[in-house]
Amino acid sequence: EDMIGEPNWIVEGSFDRPLFIPSTVSNGVTLNAQFGTSELLKRKSSNTLGYGNGILGPTIRANTSETINVLLQNGLSEETNIHWHGLILPENMDGHPKDVASPGGSLQYTLPIQQRAGTYWYHPHPHGSTARQVFMGLAGMFIVNDSEEAALNLPSGEFEIPLIIQDKHFDGASLDYSPNEDEIMTGFLGEQILVNGIHAPVLDVASGWYRLRVLNGSTARVYNLALNGLPLHIIGADGGLLRAPETVSNILLGPGERLDLLVDFSSQPIGKEFYLVSNKFSQYNAQGRQAFNIMKFRVDRTASGSFTLPSSLSTIPVLDHLQAVATRTFDIAAMTGGEGGHSGMGRHSINGKIFEMDRVDETVQAGTTEVWEFDNMMGDEIHPMHVHGVQFQVLHRMGGRNQVMPAEKGWKDTVLVMPGEKVKVIMTFPQYRGVFVFHCHNLEHEDDGMMLNYQIV
Ligand code: C2O
Ligand code: CU
Repeated sequence: EDMIGEPNWIVEGSFDRPLFIPSTVSNGVTLNAQFGTSELLKRKSSNTLGYGNGILGPTIRANTSETINVLLQNGLSEETNIHWHGLILPENMDGHPKDVASPGGSLQYTLPIQQRAGTYWYHPHPHGSTARQVFMGLAGMFIVNDSEEAALNLPSGEFEIPLIIQDKHFDGASLDYSPNEDEIMTGFLGEQILVNGIHAPVLDVASGWYRLRVLNGSTARVYNLALNGLPLHIIGADGGLLRAPETVSNILLGPGERLDLLVDFSSQPIGKEFYLVSNKFSQYNAQGRQAFNIMKFRVDRTASGSFTLPSSLSTIPVLDHLQAVATRTFDIAAMTGGEGGHSGMGRHSINGKIFEMDRVDETVQAGTTEVWEFDNMMGDEIHPMHVHGVQFQVLHRMGGRNQVMPAEKGWKDTVLVMPGEKVKVIMTFPQYRGVFVFHCHNLEHEDDGMMLNYQIV
C-alpha cells in the first residue's frame, strides 16, 4: 500500500456559513471569464477565476427545443473556451480544444437544445490548461427542463438546490494549482471541500422533500456520497431522469458526473442536523481512504404541502448490443512514453496514444450505434471516461464492482472506470458531423494527453 503516497487529508470547517446559490440566467447571457476574488474559506479572500466577479458562473436554464445564445468574453490572459458538458451540439459549438478565444477575444455560442431534461454543466476546455482553469473557478451548471419532467411536479424553487462539489488546495488564502508528478498520476487532490464555492457550508431546510442536483466539479476527486443515514433517492443521472427512482445509502460520484437526488426531511424534527458526507471507499490509491463531511443541512422550519416519491419517472429506450455496427476497445490502463513524460513512467494515454489536436483517431457514422469498451483491467488509477457529442448507456461492467450501478441505469456521458474494471457503453451517434473528443475527466489525466478525437461522418 501507500505506493502513490498519502492523500492530502481533508480540513473540515465549522459548517456555519450559508450555502451560496448561483444566480439563474437564460437565453442571451454574457459570460465574462475573468479574474476576481471570493470568500472561499471563512473570512479569507482568495484569488479566483469565474464567469463574473468571483468563483463559478450562473446556472443557465433552458427548455428543450429552445435555442440558447451565450457570449463568452475572454478577460483572462490566456486562451479559453466553453464545453457544454452533456449537451449534444453541432461541432463548432461543442468547445473542442481547437476552438478557443484569445485573451481579450470572444466567442458566440448558439446552442440548439434538442435533448431531454437533465443536469448538464459547462467549463473551459483549452488543451493543457483545462484542469487549472476549472480548478481556479471556471464552471457552472446548465439545467434543461421539459414537459415530461414538469409533469412529475418534483420539488422546485427553494426546494431544488444545485450543489457543485469541488476540492481545492490553498497556499495560505490563495488557490494553488501546482500538481507534482505524483499528483498528475493520481490526480490533484485538495484538502478543502467547497460546495458552490463555499468551504463547509450549511443549508437551513424545511421538513420536506428536496431535490439536490449534484455535480462533481473536482479535477480528480471521487466522492462516496451519503447523507448521514437518510436514504438517497436517485431520480436522474448525467442525461436526465431514470426510469424509476433507485434508492441507495451511498453512491460514488466521479469528476464530471451528475446526480439528481430526492431527499426526504419531512419527518425530521426542527433542529436536527444532517451532513452530506463522503464515506471511505477503496484501498487503491490516495483517493477514498478518508471519510469526511462536505456540507450540513439543518432543519429549521416545517414545510407545508406534501410530496410522494413517484414510482415511475420516465421512459428510456433500451439500446441493444445487437444494434451495434461496431465494437471498439480502448486501453486506458497503460502509460505511454513520450516527450514531457514524468516520473519516468510515461504519460496517460488511450490505446497508447497521446492527444494530438489535428489527428482523427476514430471515425464513426452518424446515426449508427456502437459499443465502446474502456479497459482498465490492468490499471491502478481511477478514470472517469467522458464522450462528447452523445449520451450513452452503460451495458456492462467486468471486474471490480462487476455490475451496472444504480445511477447508471439511464443516460450517461461520463462513466467511472475503477482500477481492475472494464466497462462497456453503447451509444447512437447524432446527425451532427464533425470532430469531437473523448477523454478521461480526471482533468490532470486529460491535460496530460488522455484524450482522442473521433469524427462523425
Ligand atoms: Cu466535461 Cu471534455 O469535458
Ligand atoms: Cu484518467
